[in-house]
Amino acid sequence: MSTLIATFVEQFGHTPDGLWSAPGRVNLIGEHTDYNDGLALPIALPQRTVAACSRRVDDVLRVHSVAAGETVSVDLDEVGPGRPVGWASYVAGVLWAMRADGLPVGGLDVVLDSDVPLGAGLSSSAALECSVAAAAADLYGLGLLADDEGRARLAAAADRAENEIALAPTGGMDQLASLLCRPGHALLLDFHSGQRAHVPFDLAGHGLALLVIDTRARHALVDGQYAQRRTSCEQAAAALGVGSLRASDLAAVECLKDATLRRRARHVITEIQRVLDTVSALEAEDFERVGELFLASHASLRDDYEVSCQELDLAVETACASGALGARMTGGGFGGSAIALVPADRVEAVSAAVRQAFAVAGLAAPHPFAAVASSGAARS
Ligand code: GLA
Repeated sequence: MSTLIATFVEQFGHTPDGLWSAPGRVNLIGEHTDYNDGLALPIALPQRTVAACSRRVDDVLRVHSVAAGETVSVDLDEVGPGRPVGWASYVAGVLWAMRADGLPVGGLDVVLDSDVPLGAGLSSSAALECSVAAAAADLYGLGLLADDEGRARLAAAADRAENEIALAPTGGMDQLASLLCRPGHALLLDFHSGQRAHVPFDLAGHGLALLVIDTRARHALVDGQYAQRRTSCEQAAAALGVGSLRASDLAAVECLKDATLRRRARHVITEIQRVLDTVSALEAEDFERVGELFLASHASLRDDYEVSCQELDLAVETACASGALGARMTGGGFGGSAIALVPADRVEAVSAAVRQAFAVAGLAAPHPFAAVASSGAARS
């Protein structure tokens, strides 16, 4: 923390007004459902992006990233689609979107540092956006961090920043997770009704742990595959005569003529049901069932939605073969991370088995780590 403040002083010649931070996330279940008006169940990771910030008297954003080793300066009136380019668009985009939402926000000086792994499907971009959104909300006296409603409004701004300025087509789950999650809880999100619930998620109390396996297979949401899946869902919904797949059901989906659209839509419909089933299993403290649902979700993402890859499949299979109750890819897919529900005393053994399996397959070393459900964005 003190290094961050020292970097801030070095960059801008004065001390920051404060530090704000926001977490990365893993989604327990409910994948590729957010943009289908569906359900998702993320938790916040302990890993966070920290933003040292101070308020400016003008409408200029100056932002330095420790990871990029770069400082970008931009007038907020000049922010637009794809402007500025690269990582700074996520930061500038948040301030742009807050202003577009009518919030009285001006310039900031910002220094960013993060321990959320990049490109690992753990929402490093949402952590970046939400740390800055939290800072801007506090520094401009908006009071939006006080409750879930205000936080959801900030999440919407961060979502617009990502879609409209950084031009990464994402569905909104990551930003809500980063802003609204609470320690020891998963966040049940309903993208149709807008309702949210904090679901107790205490694995340690049941002798269990959540192992996150960063496969190191790099994923990118801007490579077109994610957008293609979204388009398929829209086409399936249109063919079914509904506004979104949430409004359809399995019987109708199985009658779709196009085999690809049928598989894509089947994943979405069954995955939404699996979220409900997971919440019920958590309430009943039936973790064997949660494990089964994780596995069913993975199979659906692999076979019907076709967003898994060799590394994710290997991580899931190896985790289950070495003692996990269940495992699945998490996030957008095409690389990134898997999660496994494991007995706490098997964390080391499962991690070692996954490392070994990757070495045997000639793949780059994965990075497994245990994670507990942590807190959303806050002033540090
Ligand atoms: C990415 C997107 C999210 C969501 C997931 C898939 O993480 O950012 O909005 O669509 O993929 O569930």
